[in-house]
Amino acid sequence: MTSRAGGRWAERLAREHLALLPRRVAHLEGVARRAGEAASVVADPELLIAAAWLHDIGYGPALVETGFHPLDGAHYLRRIGAAERLCGLVANHSSARIEARRRGIPIEWADEESAERDALWWADTTTTPTGHVTTVSARLAEVEARYGADHIVTLSVAEAAPSLLAAAERTEQRIRRVRGQVK
Ligand SMILES: [Fe+2]
Repeated sequence: MTSRAGGRWAERLAREHLALLPRRVAHLEGVARRAGEAASVVADPELLIAAAWLHDIGYGPALVETGFHPLDGAHYLRRIGAAERLCGLVANHSSARIEARRRGIPIEWADEESAERDALWWADTTTTPTGHVTTVSARLAEVEARYGADHIVTLSVAEAAPSLLAAAERTEQRIRRVRGQVK
């Protein structure tokens, strides 16, 4: 039986649903690579890698429901029997709750605020739309440039910035600690 938490399963599913969106797949490849760098600082690395591959699956043309991709992705994953924790990570990724509130869309999964969640946010917000490594600040500036200053996505990301930066900082500190650079 195929594991529903494994990275291979998640990668296949993401590639299948986003086959028409090669740029999105390039982003996911980068996020999964980055998540791999944080694998040693979380208790469940398989969950982290699966979430890295699947966090944007809600952009899959066949999966659009509400038009809010974190939730459309999580709903799809729940329908196919994925673990609730994975659904929750996808639904809440990179501070999705803030944009959901602005859009008036409830998220039924709690944000678990774990090391896995921090590492997912870090991997997503330090990877460009084409899969290259960047900084959180540069990524936020890129979002503003892409959507425009008044867009709900830009406003939400600006509000989320302190949480995104804090999650990234915690993750980088955990990585430094594991590498022995910090006592
Ligand atoms: Fe992403």
